[in-house]
Amino acid sequence: MGEMRGRDFLSANDFSKEELREILAEALRLKRELKEGKEHCLLKGRTLGMVFQKPSTRTRVSFEVAMWQLGGQALFLSAQDLQIGRGEPLKDTARTLSRYLDGIMIRTFAHSEAEELAAFASVPVINGLTDLLHPCQAMADMLTLLEHFGRLEGLQLAYVGDGNNVVHSLMLAATRLGLQMAVATPPGYEPDQEIVDAARINSARAGTNLLVTNDPELAVMGAQAVYTDVWASMGQEAEHAERCALFQPYQLNSRLLAQAVPGALVLHCLPAHRGEEITEQVLEGPQSVVFDQAENRLHVQKAILAALL
Ligand code: CP
Ligand code: NVA
Repeated sequence: MGEMRGRDFLSANDFSKEELREILAEALRLKRELKEGKEHCLLKGRTLGMVFQKPSTRTRVSFEVAMWQLGGQALFLSAQDLQIGRGEPLKDTARTLSRYLDGIMIRTFAHSEAEELAAFASVPVINGLTDLLHPCQAMADMLTLLEHFGRLEGLQLAYVGDGNNVVHSLMLAATRLGLQMAVATPPGYEPDQEIVDAARINSARAGTNLLVTNDPELAVMGAQAVYTDVWASMGQEAEHAERCALFQPYQLNSRLLAQAVPGALVLHCLPAHRGEEITEQVLEGPQSVVFDQAENRLHVQKAILAALL
């Protein structure tokens, strides 16, 4: 994985299909060997800084544990406790942190902030979620599908709900890795056009189809896995009530799931809002693999960290 050393992980689309496959293969190996009790000191003595402008359960804990398990350590850096909170420019923070750390993970609002941090940092910067993208989540999702189906190419994956950061990264990773993807959002909440265009290029190269529609049943028809995410993301709390009313036809419930193939997997990046984007019955049902996804954040991030740092 030598050619990935030193690079940033801001979007899965910055990596070739072969590189993404390598990360997934390494994640599978690290996961298997962890369960066998084997220790990996791939990042002995290295330190990852984790800058958080938004809350987190999975990202924070999985990155921290990932570094520990690889023999390194992680520092939790809440943006409000850093001088960023008092107006120190990001470009100064980036250059300062680069003198201490071997890598930086950032969770923030504007994607341009992650890009600015990466531009000024001399160590790899990993995107732990921005308003635009959530690439580590998408990699964990691909790992989950790979484990359950034994392959990725040709799988039919549907997403219903908001055209947000999670579906953006999901579309990019899925189309790059050869999945057939269908996305249904309410009118006005479609995924970003530039992301759709980039995903279409991936699909054309892979010889697959990408469907972007406002019809949830059409998207789910024949799908082997159905994914959803919250209707109001972090930072959109004020729109919550309005969105809940509008998004109702996109709820992942038993009726919608019945349009997919029998036994289709149910995915959600979590945290979930039961009774909104997904019903309790579907989330807790036998087709749900949401906690496998959560676990796979750890394994795939270990592979990403080991490749970049
Ligand atoms: N899925 C995810 O990124 O969860 P957290 O917000 O808890 O990190
Ligand atoms: N779309 C959600 C994902 C949380 C992990 C958000 O940005 O809040």
